Amino acid sequence: MTRNGRLLGIVGGSGLAYLVLAILMGLLPGVALSPIPPGPGVAALTPQQAAGRQVYVAEGCAYCHTQQVRPLPMDRIFGRPSAPGDFAYQTPELLGSERTGPDLTDVGVRQPSEVWQYIHLYQPRAVVPQSIMPSYRWLFTVVQTPPAGVSPLTLPPGFGPANGVVLPTQRARDLVAYLLSLKQAPIPNYSPSVAAPGGPAVARAGFDYTQLGANVYGTSCAACHGAQGAGVPGVFPALVNDPVVTASDPKTHIEIVLNGLHGKSIGGTAYGGQMPPFGSQLSDDQIAAAIDHERTSWGNHAPTVMPADVANVRKEKK
Ligand code: HEC
Ligand code: HEC
Repeated sequence: MTRNGRLLGIVGGSGLAYLVLAILMGLLPGVALSPIPPGPGVAALTPQQAAGRQVYVAEGCAYCHTQQVRPLPMDRIFGRPSAPGDFAYQTPELLGSERTGPDLTDVGVRQPSEVWQYIHLYQPRAVVPQSIMPSYRWLFTVVQTPPAGVSPLTLPPGFGPANGVVLPTQRARDLVAYLLSLKQAPIPNYSPSVAAPGGPAVARAGFDYTQLGANVYGTSCAACHGAQGAGVPGVFPALVNDPVVTASDPKTHIEIVLNGLHGKSIGGTAYGGQMPPFGSQLSDDQIAAAIDHERTSWGNHAPTVMPADVANVRKEKK
């Protein structure tokens, strides 16, 4: 073979291999998946949510966040495994490949608080002190006096501008509308033993219950109530010395964690934030452990609860 012939063989051969692989792995799966109808309960995006999706793409959120829950135990905290019907209205899919931050497939359920999302985008460290997420200040404007009827962000002391108040721009409002729309629709007859974030009961001899409580509190509660239970004044209540957390009867405490809370005035303060329900996200063990963490930390000394207590309150509700 001549030199040129050999070169042609190498270039042509690898080009052909590339083409076959591209069709096999890139094109055919898309063609096979595209006729799949939306899953039950999967809704099209509103114009505002669709605009927010564009902001998500433009700001590069997908460099650190996935939107795909794999059928693996380590992914259970992010929701049930993703199904093809979930993506009917989310094309091109923003699956992502880097998980520097948590998966956002179900973040509208995990963090349904608009106020929290704004504070977090403006300055992640205002609500998650150890966060490495960049702050998206340019999605906000600082004005001296807000226009009538518009409420500015309530930021923890030290995080706001020296002068004036912070307002979300239209792009921030669209982005938050999109984030809050990211909710997994339940799949009918789907076996909850696989979907349940907590999996099987863990309270057994030798199990470190205190550590579980600290972990669950850290991942599910600290973002709003603070690692030390100090909250964010006016937005998320402190749990130190809180009447519900220190009550000898834990029933209200359990109910609030299971069902969430909105519009209650605590110690004379009406909180702008909203507490999401955790009943469908956490197991009885995880809820009991988190509650016990709150009841026995930061100087609180209240009677603790058992997973069975949580199960009883769940049953009463049904
Ligand atoms: C450099 C990586 C990085 C980028 C870019 C990034 N994030 Fe994050 N994000 C994180 C990390 C790390 C966390 C976890 C710590 C925290 O909550 O701040 C996080 C947390 C979050 C959470 C809370 C998730 C939960 O389960 O509580 C939301 C919502 C979020 N990011 C949205 C966004 C949006 C929207 C953008 C784009 C505007 C973005 N992120 C860009 C790293 C990133
Ligand atoms: C998205 C923010 C957010 C997250 C996450 C969150 N909370 Fe809350 N929580 C709130 C807000 C806001 C209130 C007050 C609601 C109101 O006053 O209507 C609240 C109230 C409470 C109260 C009631 C205090 C009282 O005196 O009535 C308890 C107890 C509580 N949260 C525990 C928890 C636990 C346990 C977790 C984690 C499993 C958790 N919270 C996660 C925002 C949050």
